[in-house]
Amino acid sequence: KEVKLWGGRFEESVTDAVEKFTESISFDKALYKQDIMGSKAHASMLAKQGLMSDSDRDTIIKGLEEIERQIEAGQFVWRTDREDVHMNIEAALTDLVGEPAKKLHTARSRNDQVATDFRLWCRDAIDGIISRIKNLQIAMVELALQNEGLIVPGYTHLQRAQPVLLQHLLLAYVEQLERDAGRLLDCRARVNFCPLGACALAGTGLPIDRFMTSDALGFTAPMRNSIDAVSDRDFVLELLSANSITAVHLSRLGEEWVLWASEEFGFLTPSDKVSTGSSIMPQKKNPDPMELVRGKSARVIGDLVSLLVLCKGLPHAYNRDLQEDKEPVFDSVKAIVGMLEVSAEFVQNISFNRERIQKALPAGHLDATTLADYLVKKGIPFRTSHDIVGRSVASCVSRNCELQDLSLDELNSLNPIFDKDVYEYLGVENSIKKFRSYGSTGSECVAGQLDYWIDKLSIS
Ligand code: ARG
Repeated sequence: KEVKLWGGRFEESVTDAVEKFTESISFDKALYKQDIMGSKAHASMLAKQGLMSDSDRDTIIKGLEEIERQIEAGQFVWRTDREDVHMNIEAALTDLVGEPAKKLHTARSRNDQVATDFRLWCRDAIDGIISRIKNLQIAMVELALQNEGLIVPGYTHLQRAQPVLLQHLLLAYVEQLERDAGRLLDCRARVNFCPLGACALAGTGLPIDRFMTSDALGFTAPMRNSIDAVSDRDFVLELLSANSITAVHLSRLGEEWVLWASEEFGFLTPSDKVSTGSSIMPQKKNPDPMELVRGKSARVIGDLVSLLVLCKGLPHAYNRDLQEDKEPVFDSVKAIVGMLEVSAEFVQNISFNRERIQKALPAGHLDATTLADYLVKKGIPFRTSHDIVGRSVASCVSRNCELQDLSLDELNSLNPIFDKDVYEYLGVENSIKKFRSYGSTGSECVAGQLDYWIDKLSIS
């Protein structure tokens, strides 16, 4: 058995079970790029500070580049007995270049190394998620552009509420996604501080330059407090919180569109490209991608909860428990990227069924609130007009008709103030024309919102 890099004080080697249980190479090898980047910056800094010769630095950097090449060519052998990505790379470097490699771990611990690698990884992950959020927003806006003027029932409590423009609803998703991206950007600003040089927890007596490594790695600044630098994972908690909120948004979208694709709603049809079938029922065409978007939100939330629980009982500073932070983060990022990509493809491959929607629109008295506003414009207090319209609706329900089917005489029997201009307020088409408040479903308002997003997302 190879002597461990930390083997000096040990007389016996660890059991196979402990070695298998404590390894992290099976998953933290995903950090190889960041680990190598960090080591190159660290070696350059050590040389500049006189802690290593320039020629040792060059040997180390060349060796690290060779290792990176081997990893990417699939030629590198990851060893469980070398525990994690940091020791695999350091030990392989020693095998490759000999003595100079032994200087690389000067003024560095795996505790600051892993925190640095992970912050670099999260920074890239955030950029990747944000670009996918933007793609989904663009797909939504393009779908809105294809469906100008289409009115759909708006729901509260999943009961018919008021008519809305479909564009208005699609832009609601775009707004939510914008805040999701904003949360990630906020999080990115706090992720982007450098733990390297914090060493095990207390820093070092050697003359290192933490500002130099921080700059070289594109961080804003070195972290101010070395104990904090190695022991907190609030940056991953933030990333996973942001992902969880995005996942909840996407899950609601999934739920809505699965409902809309049902025979009962029939408002939209996904194309074959984004549908799957049944192994027994030949007629089936299921909106599985959006069901799985809804389903995968569960694991994204679960990953956040795992990490919250992981961190809550840890005394300062580093604890090995923190090794368990990687897999939930990898899982969450993979899931959210997939959810965003598939949602965008779904958006690009559905059509709304104008006829079905048109047929569904008259039911449910969607224009009742517009009628109440009509009475307010005639000077009636809103509570009174609510009551009058409520009684008009009751009369429609008992006669199985819509508000616009009531004659002026019938309306006047409820209140004499109704005039024949009331029919300009009834029916969904008329009703929707009356909306004018900022942010409302009125066509001018929605057109303004659409222009905003076309410009903001640079859609041509
Ligand atoms: N594999 C460890 C992790 O992921 C690296 C740090 C280990 N440090 C230590 N002193 N055992 O957290």
